[in-house]
Amino acid sequence: MGKINAIITGIGGYVPEDVLTNEDISRMVDTTDEWIMTRVGISERRVLRDGLGTSFMGIKAVEQLLEKTHTSPEDVEALICATTTPDYFFPTAASMIAHNTGCINALTFDMQAACTGFLYALETAANYIRAGRNKKVIVVAGDTMTSITDYTDRTTCPLFGDGCGAVLIEPSTEELGILDAILCTDGTGLDHLNMKGGGSAYRATHDTVDKRMHFVYQDGKYVFKHAVMLMADASIKIVERNGLTRDDIDWIVPHQANKRIIDATAQRLGVEDKVMDNIQKRGNTSAGTIPICLWEYEEKLKKGDTLILTAFGAGFTWGAVYLKWAYDGKKT
Ligand code: UT7
Repeated sequence: MGKINAIITGIGGYVPEDVLTNEDISRMVDTTDEWIMTRVGISERRVLRDGLGTSFMGIKAVEQLLEKTHTSPEDVEALICATTTPDYFFPTAASMIAHNTGCINALTFDMQAACTGFLYALETAANYIRAGRNKKVIVVAGDTMTSITDYTDRTTCPLFGDGCGAVLIEPSTEELGILDAILCTDGTGLDHLNMKGGGSAYRATHDTVDKRMHFVYQDGKYVFKHAVMLMADASIKIVERNGLTRDDIDWIVPHQANKRIIDATAQRLGVEDKVMDNIQKRGNTSAGTIPICLWEYEEKLKKGDTLILTAFGAGFTWGAVYLKWAYDGKKT
């Protein structure tokens, strides 16, 4: 039997209805639409209502995915949820999503690699398929970043939004799917991007709440510099080691944290005209950015298209995936 590749056979997604505009944010903190558009490139983002957690969006994305791919939920053997903002510490969001979508035979777990979570989960799921162990694996990735955003901090509150995407991964003997991955970590990132309150180091107390330790902390400039450098480095490395040229690339799908980071990454790869980007309307949904982009661009994709996915996030974690798309156009 030929080599088994792991291909994406469908995609679903969900973003909440409520919209938070730059004008809304400029009423909360000292900022302007002009500053946010120029420095970050976001005009609005979606916000999940309080009381609903990430699993709510994951369920919607997976329901759509099952319908679009005509998949019976009982046939799903594994469901991995990449998120940094699960509904609860435990049980996992994955177990709640599987339960509510009828994926009752699936092994489930959450995976936390911050904004790089989708890439980590994709490669993990692909390994289940390549090993011949499973035939249907779902990766659902996304975050409710607004639940950990400090709306008194102008340096972080314009950045984040909420949303989830989900993909079905199946085996194929064609030369398609997740063909290579570079996934990296550098734990020195801790001091520059974190949320320290509420874990086992700083358990939730009045003091941690007063010190605003339950919100994202980010040293923006430091993170920016590393995101630009490391996303491009990983992308160039995966392109070169697979013998690809600029002309072979149909799409680059970068994590959507800042339009300037997206542009710089595309520029270093020399593919400015082949970039998927939806940051203006979606903001940074952390693990959700790449699958939501793929979901929104699905109709433009063709079988055999070469995609380079790349992300950077807390940890630091970062990486790149070389993916050959496996079907034409939008599945309905
Ligand atoms: O997804 C995980 C990875 N995250 C990222 O990749 C994000 C990386 N970082 C960034 O995208 C950018 O660093 C930010 C968008 C967070 C900040 O942009 P920046 O161009 O690096 O701004 P800065 O932090 O250097 O601040 C420049 C100025 C400062 O004023 P002074 O000190 O020059 O007077 C800030 O106080 O802009 C000020 N500033 C703002 N002004 C208006 C910071 N935030 C705002 C704001 N509105 N919202």
